[in-house]
Amino acid sequence: MRQGRLRLEDKVAIVTGAGSIGPGWGNGKATAALFAREGAKVLAVDRSPEAAEEARAAIVAEGGVCVAHVADVSIAAQVERLVAVCLENFGRVDVLHNNVGIAVVGGPLETSEEDWDRLMAVNIKSMFLTCRAVIPVMLDQFQRDGRGGAIVNVGAIAGIRWTGVPLLAYAASKGAVDPLTKQIALQYAKQRIRCNAITAGFLETPMITMLRDAYGADDYEEMMRKRNRHIPRGQMGTPWDVANAALFLASDDADFISGQSLVVDGGVTSQSWIDSNA
Ligand SMILES: NC(=O)c1ccc[n+]([C@@H]2O[C@H](COP(=O)([O-])OP(=O)(O)OC[C@H]3O[C@@H](n4cnc5c(N)ncnc54)[C@H](O)[C@@H]3O)[C@@H](O)[C@H]2O)c1
Repeated sequence: MRQGRLRLEDKVAIVTGAGSIGPGWGNGKATAALFAREGAKVLAVDRSPEAAEEARAAIVAEGGVCVAHVADVSIAAQVERLVAVCLENFGRVDVLHNNVGIAVVGGPLETSEEDWDRLMAVNIKSMFLTCRAVIPVMLDQFQRDGRGGAIVNVGAIAGIRWTGVPLLAYAASKGAVDPLTKQIALQYAKQRIRCNAITAGFLETPMITMLRDAYGADDYEEMMRKRNRHIPRGQMGTPWDVANAALFLASDDADFISGQSLVVDGGVTSQSWIDSNA
């Protein structure tokens, strides 16, 4: 652990989807690890017991404090329970990091009704449920010591742009992250609850493996080349780029920032076009 002032010293953070669906680092796992490195006590929530435990073990191995908890954040009772577990272990919730998100490739003709409903539940209803469960805790904290809390919601550039692959349900669910974020930020500003979003761009995480066929790529490397060509600098971002943005928004360094969506995309959405056939 680094010495000196840590950016999340004395804070307690819930990170949802804190594991990773494949080997290596996903956004949630990197964020949970970075939060812990910066002094936060972390509740690492994942629906996969193995993934939650892997995140916990990685954090504890670095000298951090973490409790793993298994929950599906699209189910209200499980969300209520995870907040109770956080309070039982750490006594407060300063940061809620809503990282969970799943994708299904397809446009309106290929997307099943079941997949549409599942993505809406996992990607956006989950944010409503976690905020509904955590905000009363943050309001109590504000009453007690003037400290509300910070909420960070992970969106995606697919929610604001065509990204070269049909992702109808994913894009629609991510498109709802920004308005949800603004609603909460404005309603609870006086109680010092900040709420911001990260609009993440093309990243190299285990999650993107499922996109290979959609890119018409023979192998993983070809898909990576195609994705890298979209990026102005020629290379995708990493989970640590999202983690660093999340750390800033979660920390007191962002005390006067609320209701914003920070685009973390290497400049992709500032271009005039994305070549679908690249
Ligand atoms: N990888 C990219 O290029 C990219 C780009 C933009 C945005 N994002 C967003 O980043 C976020 C996470 O990315 P990641 O790489 O960490 O993903 P990931 O697929 O590795 O998922 C992280 C964890 O979430 C868990 N999870 C899935 N559904 C859950 C549920 N209902 N309840 C609890 N846990 C659940 C998984 O088990 C997994 O361990 C998502 O919101 C995603 O949409 C990713």
